[in-house]
Amino acid sequence: MGIISNCTAASIKDAATSLINGNLVAFPTETVYGLGADACNERAVARIYEVKSRPSDHPLIVHISSTKLLDKWARCIPEYARTLAQYFWPGPMTLVLRRSSLASDLITGGQDTVAVRVPGHRATISILKEFESLGGQGVVAPSANKFGRVSPTTASAVIDAIGNKLNSSDIVIDGGQSAFGLESTIIDCQDISPKILRPGPISIADINSICEVKKQPYIIQIPLVRVSGGFKSHYKPCAQVIISENPQKGDGFIAFKSTPTPEGVIRLASPETSEEYARQLYEALRFADSLKLSRVCVVRAPIQGIGIAINDRLVKITA
Ligand code: TXA
Ligand code: MG
Repeated sequence: MGIISNCTAASIKDAATSLINGNLVAFPTETVYGLGADACNERAVARIYEVKSRPSDHPLIVHISSTKLLDKWARCIPEYARTLAQYFWPGPMTLVLRRSSLASDLITGGQDTVAVRVPGHRATISILKEFESLGGQGVVAPSANKFGRVSPTTASAVIDAIGNKLNSSDIVIDGGQSAFGLESTIIDCQDISPKILRPGPISIADINSICEVKKQPYIIQIPLVRVSGGFKSHYKPCAQVIISENPQKGDGFIAFKSTPTPEGVIRLASPETSEEYARQLYEALRFADSLKLSRVCVVRAPIQGIGIAINDRLVKITA
C-alpha cells in the first residue's frame, strides 16, 4: 500500500490512475475518510466489500466532482434536490435518488435508488476530476473502516483499521483530520419533500432554510431502505460505551470542557462546542481502544445542529 501525504499534481494523477486501474484509494473527505473504487469496475467494488467485511447487499455512495454529473447517475430528480445540491455541494450531504442505468445492482444493493455526493475536500475533488478526465464516471466510497466499526477521521486511523487488507497497488491519501468528523447527512429525495435518513453535518434547520417544502423534513424511525444509520448498533469501538455523566475510576470520559474529570477517570476529549465534539468523537473512541479501556462514558450533545447527528451516533454506539 502506498501512502501519499503530499498532494502534488503528480500524486493526484497517480491516485486517479490507480482507481482507473481497478485499485482501491482511501481518501480524505470533510466528513470521514472513504475507501474508494471505480463505481463501474465490478472487481474493484467487490474488493471494497471484502476489505470492509461488509454485507454485499449494503449500498454504496457514488462520489462525483461536480453537481453537473448528477444526471449521469440519477433520473427523475426533483427540483428541491437540485436546490439542495446547488447549496450544499461540495459538502457533507448525500442525496438518494432514482437510479440511472449507470448505477448497477452492485453498488445499489439491488434497490432502484442510488446515493450520490460531491465531497468537500480539495485533494479528493482533484482526484475525482482527474479520474473523470481519464474516463471514470464516479467513485464509490464507504467509510474506510471495518463494517460496524468507528469511521476513520485521519489517514493513520484508516491504516489501523484496514491497512492489513490493502495490497501494494492500493493507496492511502493523507489529507489531514476530517473537518466535520461525522458522516454526511443522507437525504431521501424520492418523495415530494426531502426525508433525512441519516442525520449529519447539514442539519434539519439548514435544509429547511433553503428548501421550499411544505412538510418539515423528518428523521424516519424505521428506514424503508438500507442505511448505515438504520442499523440498531453501529460505529462501535471495542470498549463498551454508555451515556453517563458519572464515570467510575478507570473509565474513559468524553464530555464538554465545562464538566470536570473525576479522580481516576481517563479524559478522552473535552470539546467546547458541538462542532468540536463531532470532530473529536471517533478519534477519542479510537484512543480509548488504544488504551485498552473497557468502558467509556459519553454525554449527549444539545439537540440542535450537528448535535442531532452526534446523539444519533451515540444511540448506535451505545446500543
Ligand atoms: O460522509 C460519508 O457519507 C462517507 C464519506 C466517505 O463520503 N461515506 C459513508 O459511507 O459514510 P458508508 O457506506 O459508510 O455509509 C453510507 C450509507 C450506506 O451504508 C448505505 O446504507 C447508505 O449510505 N446508502 C447508500 N446507498 C443508498 C441508497 N440507495 N438508499 C439508501 N441508503 C443508501
Ligand atoms: Mg460507514
